[in-house]
Amino acid sequence: MPSIKISSKGVRKVYNPGADNEVLAIEDASIDIREGEFVALLGPSGCGKSTFLFMVGGFEEPTGGALTLNGAPIAGPGANRGIVFQEYVLFPWQRVTANIAYGLRIAGVPKAEQERRVAELIAMIGLQGFEDAYPESLSGGMKQRVAIARALAYDPEILLMDEPFGALDAQTRGRMIADLIRIHQATHKTTLFVTHSVEEAILLSDRVALFSARPSRIKEIFEIDMPHERSVTDDRFVAYEKAILESLDEEVSKTASFQ
Ligand SMILES: Nc1ncnc2c1ncn2[C@@H]1O[C@H](COP(=O)(O)OP(=O)(O)OP(=O)(O)O)[C@@H](O)[C@H]1O
Ligand SMILES: [Mg+2]
Repeated sequence: MPSIKISSKGVRKVYNPGADNEVLAIEDASIDIREGEFVALLGPSGCGKSTFLFMVGGFEEPTGGALTLNGAPIAGPGANRGIVFQEYVLFPWQRVTANIAYGLRIAGVPKAEQERRVAELIAMIGLQGFEDAYPESLSGGMKQRVAIARALAYDPEILLMDEPFGALDAQTRGRMIADLIRIHQATHKTTLFVTHSVEEAILLSDRVALFSARPSRIKEIFEIDMPHERSVTDDRFVAYEKAILESLDEEVSKTASFQ
């Protein structure tokens, strides 16, 4: 049985506590994530998915509850967690290789080791031939490939992804999903993947954690018991999709009635 990598028990997050603009972003996030597991986070807009990811990343502190990584409270950001955002946060003035090597350079990894690692990652994400390109000359999908490679460069234990394919067209997104499944199978990184797409969540994950509308809690966790590659036309896929959409729609309609 794989060990628990991330444990979130009754985690609560209030932004600006006590101020006029106080926001109860998360009321109760409770989930244990096992080593090597791929978990998608779904939920209505503003329910705290990014907030949860930022807390695991160590950029935000929980207001209450217990959030641990390898059994110890998360005290801040660290190289054991790699992050990929929706926007392409690459350095425009650096070539693909330098962008990927960023964390390795900062950590003072010897040049030869940096080059070896970057070449390995370039092959893994399928960017051979683009080593010397600048970000502006790359498509959106390619930029996200570079961002994923950069997040993996330091060989983190955990990959945190916040709607990484949200800005991509459907075809590119399909290829990125297939590649991410392949990368996950090769690296076994514990992965938290925020998405608005139920389809993406079911295609990728071992489990889908569904957040309720605010004040949010992890309302339901769906175990996706299907081998890869998964097909959207498979009866089991359709059944998962229906169950998750029904539960999600219930929350989205609550959000709408507040506004
Ligand atoms: N730094 C902040 N200061 C104050 N409030 C914040 C901050 N960040 C997020 N919030 C609020 O906390 C709540 C949760 O936000 P969060 O961005 O985590 O939601 P989300 O589920 O990622 O939404 P989306 O699907 O739109 O990305 C929202 O009401 C948001 O306005
Ligand atoms: Mg978000």
